[in-house]
Amino acid sequence: MKQDIDWSKLGFHYTEPDYIVRAGYHDGVWEEPYATKDKFLHLHVSATCLQYGQEAFEGLKAFRGVDGKIRIFRWRDNARRMAQSAKGLFMAPVPEELFGKAIRLALEKNLDFVPPYGTGATLYFRPLLIGTTPRLGVGPGRDFEFIVIPSPIGPYYPGKFHCTTFIVNRYVDRAAPYGTGQFKVGGNYASSFRATEAAHAMGCDCIFLDAKQHKFIDECSAANFIGIKGNEYLTPKSSAILPSITNDSLMTLAKEMGLKVTRRRIRLEELADMSEAAACGTAAVISPMNKVVDTEKGVTYSFGDEPGPVLSQLYHMLKDIQYGRSEDTHGWCEIVNN
Ligand code: PLP
Ligand code: COI
Repeated sequence: MKQDIDWSKLGFHYTEPDYIVRAGYHDGVWEEPYATKDKFLHLHVSATCLQYGQEAFEGLKAFRGVDGKIRIFRWRDNARRMAQSAKGLFMAPVPEELFGKAIRLALEKNLDFVPPYGTGATLYFRPLLIGTTPRLGVGPGRDFEFIVIPSPIGPYYPGKFHCTTFIVNRYVDRAAPYGTGQFKVGGNYASSFRATEAAHAMGCDCIFLDAKQHKFIDECSAANFIGIKGNEYLTPKSSAILPSITNDSLMTLAKEMGLKVTRRRIRLEELADMSEAAACGTAAVISPMNKVVDTEKGVTYSFGDEPGPVLSQLYHMLKDIQYGRSEDTHGWCEIVNN
């Protein structure tokens, strides 16, 4: 029950909401999104999502602000990225307005699940798009289901803003250079489990390198990589990584702070020249790295056990916008009347 939720103790785990939102796509037409308490699907065993991984998802958040208002952060960007993922997997893209309607409906039907201001918790939305046509022949389906699953969540990494150790992974490739890494599809995550579970068992997470040469930093399992080198904000350019909306926001804020923002291929050894490094994403926000350990080469890159000054400033700038403590000059937040 929501009245039992200890908001400040929430981690990044599923809490059952009252309602989810669904909309089906059949004969080339999307149905109106509707709210339902039923969290189960009546899905054919041969559905293309089950047989061939025809599935894409998203992640975005709503924040209860300092003024009590609820702000949904950059949902249009998530809608656009989901449309790209849909095209990448030959699925019908969810129209932007339908996506927005579904998110708003999921919010309205679960208002009691929006964590109070000051708890560090937020309402996370997990939009999901699956292929539902039964098929045995290899190929895409024609029917799809769009689902929005809301859940209140706490920080992705334990602690509000603290450092995590990352391990350089060379034995599992998350995504090929022209594969599905740029899309947010379940297969990318399943393929990384062998590496991430090993890292998690040690209380760490991992960094994936480019799959072709294992020379350049690609990204983390669920977040982009960012590093600070002098007055420069550095982030990898790669066809195998997800275009992070958080990273995009941080690049904008970094420029406003007077940093030079560079997106290019980054050799792993360049970590030695960086003063700060972090994973960034909707769930991760900014998760600073205290160490990056390259076990194979016997090298450890250290950044200190406290978040550095530049990433701390960026973290607070972003949070201030999301919680309504500073002006949203970029129009990133949609305020929902409640
Ligand atoms: N990279 C991966 C692999 C992710 O799963 C995520 C999370 O969504 C990100 C990057 C960060 O993207 P965003 O900031 O849009 O959440
Ligand atoms: C997010 O940051 O929203 C993600 O989807 C990353 C991960 C939890 C899968």
